[in-house]
Amino acid sequence: MSADSLTRREFVGTATGVAAGAVLAVTPARGIEAPAVHIRPAGRNAAVASGNGLRAVGKVGELLAQGVDTLDAAVEGVKIQELDPEDTSVGYGGLPNEEGVVQLDASCMHGPSRRAGAVACLEGIKTPSVVAQYVLLYTNHILLVGEGAKRFALSYGFKEEDLLTEKSRQAWLRWRANRGTADDWLPVADTEQMVARPTGTINCNVVNAKGEVSSVTTTSGLAWKIPGRVGDSPIIGAGQYTDPDVGAAGSTGRGESNIKVCGGFLTVEFMRRGMKPTDACLETLKRVVAMTEQRLLDERGRPTFSLNFYAINKNGEFGSASLFPGRDGPPTYAAFDGQTAALHDCAVLYDRRA
Ligand code: GLY
Repeated sequence: MSADSLTRREFVGTATGVAAGAVLAVTPARGIEAPAVHIRPAGRNAAVASGNGLRAVGKVGELLAQGVDTLDAAVEGVKIQELDPEDTSVGYGGLPNEEGVVQLDASCMHGPSRRAGAVACLEGIKTPSVVAQYVLLYTNHILLVGEGAKRFALSYGFKEEDLLTEKSRQAWLRWRANRGTADDWLPVADTEQMVARPTGTINCNVVNAKGEVSSVTTTSGLAWKIPGRVGDSPIIGAGQYTDPDVGAAGSTGRGESNIKVCGGFLTVEFMRRGMKPTDACLETLKRVVAMTEQRLLDERGRPTFSLNFYAINKNGEFGSASLFPGRDGPPTYAAFDGQTAALHDCAVLYDRRA
């Protein structure tokens, strides 16, 4: 267990795994007892996000200080990446599917209202996180996909735009030309050589001083995916999850591997049982490995893909874990601790790749 694990002394009633400083309260939820550890509210604002979310958590910090709602703040934060043409993993400028079409996925949850919203395979709209929030706010549904999701967005005045930038179109053309020798596209020079297919994404999880929690994840998904492919980001309980009594968690990386363990939900459940955020993320990664098919494991049984989790509890403690370090050390995640927005090192499950 890492340094931020709970010590024995911090536990009371080990049979129930309830953390000291936490108040055991079995919530009578409409006659059904929910075995919830009620963690004390943070007393300060905090946020955690993937490494591309430094500006996002900075924005969240500013907005929470003005009393803005946690989900509104989270969406405003990730919108910065969605609208940034240089971030090829999210929104405008995101890498397209194998046919050169950008298809976006996003989901969100709002702790205070216990509501969720999501969109998948959304084309032509730069800010899928906002459309997901509109599904949450204005419909009786949770997930809208494809053409229906686009028509829903257009009905609210979202503008349909070409989401390919020159940079992302050129990357796609190079990939198409170089993907194999058995087709009719002639190879071209490619200095970037995308060895691993990018699965970048932004996840942002927020808690305010009152202990209100929200989460959002948005992505252009796996680059060069089969059209119609939906990753983990728009799946409630995988790409992100909020439990108003516990905290929130989300993910970036290979979505298919996260979906199989419902990683956002599982990470929150580990925190419910008393784990600190970093340990909860590591525990979820162990479950991912246990659920990985042979073809995606190396000879030592380690995954050949990347996956990261980010978590925050209602008390404002946050953490993140990744399967592996990067070439230059541990991957980083972004966090706002009530004072400062900064990058931190992720914990890693394995100290090196194969
Ligand atoms: N985690 C992003 C995706 O797999 O689509």
